[in-house]
Amino acid sequence: MNLYYTVYVSTPTRTLDDDGLRELLKVSRDLNSRFDVTGMLICLPENYIQLIEGPKPHIDQLYNNIQRDKRHMRVTTLREGPIEQRYFPDWAMALKESPSMTVAQGLVNLEDDKVLQLFNILEY
Ligand SMILES: Cc1cc2nc3c(=O)[nH]c(=O)nc-3n(C[C@H](O)[C@H](O)[C@H](O)COP(=O)(O)O)c2cc1C
Repeated sequence: MNLYYTVYVSTPTRTLDDDGLRELLKVSRDLNSRFDVTGMLICLPENYIQLIEGPKPHIDQLYNNIQRDKRHMRVTTLREGPIEQRYFPDWAMALKESPSMTVAQGLVNLEDDKVLQLFNILEY
């Protein structure tokens, strides 16, 4: 299979509340499972950072949708390219939130292994 990945950063147009985030994740996870896409979304107060990976035609289509999505702006590609194997094979879309964003939802440490893995991919 022709696997491809893209990592981008974007700016939320407005802060998503818990319902908004839940809705976004539900749709994303449903569609990603259907289209064999995996990845991770990091929600920070000022930015989304997302890695998506899967069959190239599906990633092209999805990234097109994502770039047109009004919930964020300034979608900027950080890394993209073919891959031999997935970085996040077990995640239809993992979510990491920054502490300051949703204190109520159970926090995620930005030093979390999965987050560090993404930063490694970005070579930061
Ligand atoms: C930050 C962010 C991340 C998103 N991640 C995904 C995703 O991983 N998978 C997905 O199908 N849609 C994702 N979406 C939603 C898509 O932009 C789009 O709404 C969705 O694919 C449905 O497409 P449609 O609105 O054209 O029906 C994301 C949107 C935003 C704002």
